[in-house]
Amino acid sequence: MCGIVGYMGYREAYPIIIEGLKRLEYRGYDSAGIALFDGTNLKVSKTKGKVADLEDRSEKEITKTGHVGIGHTRWATHGVPNDVNSHPHLSNSGDLVIIHNGIIENYESLKQELISRGYTFQSDTDTEVLINLIEDVKKKENVKLGKAVQIALNQVIGAYAIAVFDKTKPEEVVVARLGSPLAIGIGANENEFFIASDASPFLEYTKNAVYLEDEEMAVIRFKKGIKIRKIKDDSLVDTYVQELQLNLEEIEKGGYDHFMLKEIHEQPKAITDTYRGRLLRREAIIKMAGVEDNMKKFLNANRIIIVACGTSWHAGLVAEYIFEDLARIPVEVEYASEFRYRNPVINESDVVIAISQSGETADTLAAIKLAKSKGAFVFGVCNVVGSSIARASDAGAYTHAGPEIGVASTKAFTTQITVLTLIALRLARAKGAITSSDFRHHLLELEMIPQKVEEALKSDAHIKMVADIYKDVSNFLYLGRGYNFPVALEGALKLKEISYIHAEGYPAAEMKHGPIALIDENMPIVVIATKKGHYEKVVSNIQEIKSRKGKIIGIVTEGDTQVRDLADHVIEVPETLESLSPLLTTIPLQLLSYHIAVLLDKNVDQPRNLAKSVTVE
Ligand code: AGP
Ligand code: GLU
Repeated sequence: MCGIVGYMGYREAYPIIIEGLKRLEYRGYDSAGIALFDGTNLKVSKTKGKVADLEDRSEKEITKTGHVGIGHTRWATHGVPNDVNSHPHLSNSGDLVIIHNGIIENYESLKQELISRGYTFQSDTDTEVLINLIEDVKKKENVKLGKAVQIALNQVIGAYAIAVFDKTKPEEVVVARLGSPLAIGIGANENEFFIASDASPFLEYTKNAVYLEDEEMAVIRFKKGIKIRKIKDDSLVDTYVQELQLNLEEIEKGGYDHFMLKEIHEQPKAITDTYRGRLLRREAIIKMAGVEDNMKKFLNANRIIIVACGTSWHAGLVAEYIFEDLARIPVEVEYASEFRYRNPVINESDVVIAISQSGETADTLAAIKLAKSKGAFVFGVCNVVGSSIARASDAGAYTHAGPEIGVASTKAFTTQITVLTLIALRLARAKGAITSSDFRHHLLELEMIPQKVEEALKSDAHIKMVADIYKDVSNFLYLGRGYNFPVALEGALKLKEISYIHAEGYPAAEMKHGPIALIDENMPIVVIATKKGHYEKVVSNIQEIKSRKGKIIGIVTEGDTQVRDLADHVIEVPETLESLSPLLTTIPLQLLSYHIAVLLDKNVDQPRNLAKSVTVE
């Protein structure tokens, strides 16, 4: 995920692009860059860091004149954040320049093909492959830029919003989209055009916008207008110009009231982005370079030790069930902060998996260093590319959740579980611990999760109503068993963090060993009671609560009647495999805590006393 901005018109492009990038910085902020054309020269300036760093750099590096330009704020997926990997990227001839938001999945095979044809590459990005592919097609087929982009994109697997410019044909810019957003702003008399990931960079100049749909591309010509085509079959699409009625604030949060709510709703896409290019259902394989390259280490491991904090630790607990259940590898899950100060028994035959959204958590980083010093192999699961934990690990796999701004972690959790499930399945297959048909079944079910998350999100209004009933209580209890025990912990953490209501997560069967004493008619208890996870046992626990007059909010499988009869409220989630159920049962718990916090008028995105990235002990 990143922000892209472009301008072609009569004004100076530089300030428009820089201001636009600042507005899009919430989408990604590890590097930034700009390309400007002044009628003769194509000037590129780019740097690791924020847009402010780009301003400093371009001040020294380029003259800031030119009426055409493109800019990018990056959120790295391929190649660490550094100056060279920053966008824009030039083609080998230096004529073509591109900015790209997304992932080109088959970049490696395309790159090899281009290298064999004499192309060279400066960066590690997938994007540089695409711009050279476009150049190659343009030369080979002797076609215009628009056609070359179209032919190239038909060879690409992945997701993209791109803008491409050819300095030998400076009156046009070509854009295209699949899976990443792209808006075109149109100035009066078509004498200026804006390109951006959302409309915020151009709202003050024009309210007229065209939103490209997936699989569409457009050739934008100065004073001549826009021509939109389908990338696949070249058919022309009518240009539908919308009049925007938005203010800036609304757009940056994508129309949501808070980043947390936006991020909750982004989960179908974030999960898809995370398994994209890794889960290949038709071939019935899972492809993850970090796992493949270290397969021996994983297969010979005595055990896996997972270290993490907070929500990432909860994802680790879910992973414990998955790894043991599917891959039959023993797992221990440790709070990084405890692990680092214990004297853990650990050696070369241990594999340590460190999980961290930010990749900067001090305790997790210290735990990694300790594990490495004892000779263990460390595998990182991080969201932020090039972060300290990603760099300190021996190998790893990124979650591709995109930037998470809300302090309460949501999409990071479900994408961590997605990556860990992929790893467990891959190892299970390599060990022969899973049958081929069971493996295929898991791939199919995992591929359907984003759609089912979408379904689960539809309970939003009902959950808000439940939130309104319980918003004023002082305590909550969350219960779950098996795979859903860590989800109960995560649900309780979410509520504590943003509403400041005290909440406890517990394994449902442990209730009778203590917490049952808390139950009276004022205590709401969220019980995860999906069909496949020890359902009958959990129903008995619900009976026990009912006899003590506790209020039950049941998270149940669609169509459930038994819990519905007992519970005060039920929230349904679609059916899936038990091992994948945390990806669905988490959703209503996120929404419940969100709505309670909003109804209590709390600062949802920046709760008191917390920080997004905990870089102190
Ligand atoms: C989650 O909602 C929290 N804000 C917090 O527990 C967080 O998960 C923890 O600090 C770990 O962060 P990390 O994933 O960036 O390492
Ligand atoms: N895949 C590209 C890269 O890593 C684009 C990432 C983005 O969307 O920012 O450079």
